[in-house]
Amino acid sequence: MFHPSLFKGMNVVVTGAGRGIGLEVARLFLDCGAHVLLHGGRSPHDELPDFLADAVAEARAHIVYGDFLTDKGIEDVVRQSDSLFEHVDVLINNAGTMVGRFPAAELTDDQYETVVQLNQTSVVEITRGLLPQLRRSTQASIVNTVSISALTGGSAGSAIYSATKAFVATYSKALARELAPEGIRVNCVSPGTITTDFHERYSSPDKLEATRKTIPLQRLGTPEDCAPAYLFFASSALSGYITGQVLEVNGGQLIC
Ligand SMILES: NC(=O)c1ccc[n+]([C@@H]2O[C@H](COP(=O)([O-])OP(=O)(O)OC[C@H]3O[C@@H](n4cnc5c(N)ncnc54)[C@H](OP(=O)(O)O)[C@@H]3O)[C@@H](O)[C@H]2O)c1
Repeated sequence: MFHPSLFKGMNVVVTGAGRGIGLEVARLFLDCGAHVLLHGGRSPHDELPDFLADAVAEARAHIVYGDFLTDKGIEDVVRQSDSLFEHVDVLINNAGTMVGRFPAAELTDDQYETVVQLNQTSVVEITRGLLPQLRRSTQASIVNTVSISALTGGSAGSAIYSATKAFVATYSKALARELAPEGIRVNCVSPGTITTDFHERYSSPDKLEATRKTIPLQRLGTPEDCAPAYLFFASSALSGYITGQVLEVNGGQLIC
């Protein structure tokens, strides 16, 4: 799909890459010759997929685990990147989840703070921590995962999650303007309804089928549908004149 040396010699950090969209993004970067630090989520799940086990054995990939609800989880990613790389060319802030569906009147302070810390504050903190390394690259790019719900408000019980994604989209636009003079580009990928463990947890099969029927392309998305958009934004050859943008990847679920 992409040239196998598109990211040769480049250092990439992907958060939330233990499964779902982030894992597929990491796989594509490895396929294109990058040196990748994967944040694999809070802790190891199953056995590593073959492509990743091979890349780790060849020291093309490194994995760090950490809970982004803790300072240590975030600091460990920054520290590991510092110790591995002289510079970071690409940062993909992708870790996140809805945490739960919380009706507005019953939302607890703890639930609110958890959703905001994971989906919003951790993006700011990882970005701040890795900026010195990004500044040492000659063609740095940051790509943040947001969501269709940042524009639509999402479905019942997802108000705070959706608002955090809108925060990240707006933060990314401001950051794009601030960092442009240094040659650092910042963009977002906004997935629609993508079949990952995310919806196993938060959406019933009936809800997913009802959603599918509203999608002009008549199917739910996959991590494979989303991942190329991240590589597009990460490559200065492909998108060097694009910054501050949000690319909606949703099969036409939202056209506006
Ligand atoms: N799937 C969709 O339809 C959809 C739509 C719009 C936006 N998104 C966004 O896309 C991104 C990836 O989601 P996905 O669908 O690939 O879901 P996923 O398969 O559940 O992956 C989420 C990733 O985030 C990590 N994560 C969750 N809680 C964490 C915590 N407390 N600390 C550190 N890492 C944590 C997970 O690690 P663990 O394995 O430890 O949980 C996992 O690696 C998320 O930002 C999500 O909000 C998804």
